[in-house]
Amino acid sequence: MAASEGARLRTVIVPDAEDLARLVADRIVAVIRRATAERGRCVLGLAAGSTPLGIYEELIRRCQAGEVSFAKVATFNLDEYWPIAPDDPRSFRRAMWHQLFAQLDIPPKSVHVPAGDTPRDAVPAACAAYERAIRAAGGMDFQLLGIGRDGHIGFNEPGSAADSRTRLVTLDAITRRDAAAQFGDEASVPREAITIGVATILEAREIALLAMGERKAEIVRRAVEGEPAAEVTATFLQRHPNATAYLDRAAASRLTRMGGQPEG
Ligand code: GLP
Repeated sequence: MAASEGARLRTVIVPDAEDLARLVADRIVAVIRRATAERGRCVLGLAAGSTPLGIYEELIRRCQAGEVSFAKVATFNLDEYWPIAPDDPRSFRRAMWHQLFAQLDIPPKSVHVPAGDTPRDAVPAACAAYERAIRAAGGMDFQLLGIGRDGHIGFNEPGSAADSRTRLVTLDAITRRDAAAQFGDEASVPREAITIGVATILEAREIALLAMGERKAEIVRRAVEGEPAAEVTATFLQRHPNATAYLDRAAASRLTRMGGQPEG
């Protein structure tokens, strides 16, 4: 494990994806144990996308081995395409149930994903209700984040304000291009999405930003070393007292202060 010393965001660099999954799963299990022991419950903010899948596999393995229970855990996912049917295989809700929730001992009522089938005129009230539900649960103990190639966290696209809350957003061209494979082609990718806001994310007690692979290296450099700016919403994490970027070597390869040679 290595750390990038001059970074503006605390950075942990591991050799590969398996190490990353183990390390972050360890951290999540520790948070679940501590929060449930102290307060009788734990609230996790979770991300869809490919990056967390190894972590989710680790969590399932540990839950099924009896090492950790999700019976007292509540989850809130970051975002969802809009409009999309909840049972559409490309919806984040369906993907998360398939890849994680169905294999845990979590009560279904404790799982929250923004509803992609909310009628447009009901979206503002649904977004306000999502914020209230997070607050009523006690706020996020731990927030897991991926990063888009445009620097987004959740679907907080470039230009999103630091004080933004859960809302309907227009997706960026890069985001829609990157999602084209799942939807068959770019034209079929929804143009909008519901995302929790930057301010909502920053209220989490602990944040883990994950990135793997060379294709994320340039945006990771900007997120970790760049000036805080709304063009790269991940830079807002620099102001959080307990946020860490967990990177594999490829994603960390452009961090200038690493000299490109992280230790194993
Ligand atoms: C998606 C989601 C994010 C996700 C990010 C990275 O579009 N809105 O929540 O973290 O982009 O996705 P991936 O992990 O597949 O690279």
